[in-house]
Amino acid sequence: MTKNILMCEPKYFDIEYEINPWMKLTDQPSDLTAEEQWHKLLGIYTNELGWNVKFIDPVKHLPDMVFATDCCLMLDGKIMLSKFRYPERRPESERYKQWFIDNGFNKIKQTSNFFEGGGDTMVCGQKIIAGYGFRSQLESHKELEDYFSREVISLKIVDPFFYHLDTSLTVLSDDTIAFYPGAIDEPSQELLRSKIPNCIEATLEEAQGFGLNAVSDGKTIVTSDANQSLIEKYRQAGFTVIPTPILEFRKSGGGVKCLTLELRS
Ligand code: ARG
Repeated sequence: MTKNILMCEPKYFDIEYEINPWMKLTDQPSDLTAEEQWHKLLGIYTNELGWNVKFIDPVKHLPDMVFATDCCLMLDGKIMLSKFRYPERRPESERYKQWFIDNGFNKIKQTSNFFEGGGDTMVCGQKIIAGYGFRSQLESHKELEDYFSREVISLKIVDPFFYHLDTSLTVLSDDTIAFYPGAIDEPSQELLRSKIPNCIEATLEEAQGFGLNAVSDGKTIVTSDANQSLIEKYRQAGFTVIPTPILEFRKSGGGVKCLTLELRS
């Protein structure tokens, strides 16, 4: 299945502030390595998979704009724009909103509660799986339900290292996910297992390698190359896996999925 993707080049990608435990002002990413890893990912999308990729211009001093998935959830051509928890990231919403308008996407709404787009939401079949706690507020899930008319499975995130749900959970197909259970509370783990037919479990170490921050078209999974064991689990479940180096972005708390916004029209 061909995907339409929006990405933002890491031209101004730096650690200018610390808003999650991965980020350290004293541990700056290498510009060269970040550019290399990002271009390699882009090459996988366009050359290997034949997906369509569009680009938004990066903005100086908005270093996290590179994590395009965080700007919104787009589904059925409708956009729910993010309202970022931290003031440092709030100006990103306007930039992305303008890009959507300029590119003909006009159904745009913004939540009134904190909501961080694809960072905290994924689409699984007809359902939306959504996280809350560190960034998005639970109240935003009701707003999503009303706007998209889809069931929202709300999961409470409890580990600050996995502040966004997409760092600990990935949707692999309409009925299969992979997740690190320790990132969410026990009732949320149970809820997930009751709602999703196939749940592959990952270890803490696998989650730390950002192998759960993945993009899948239902058959092929693009993910971090850091954990061979998780890649094997994906393969054993019947998926084709394209591993790629991405850990320069972990210095900011991000990976493959964070760099990738799906334009679902
Ligand atoms: N530094 C960014 C932040 O803390 C990283 C966001 C990564 N995005 C994601 N979808 N996990 O907000």
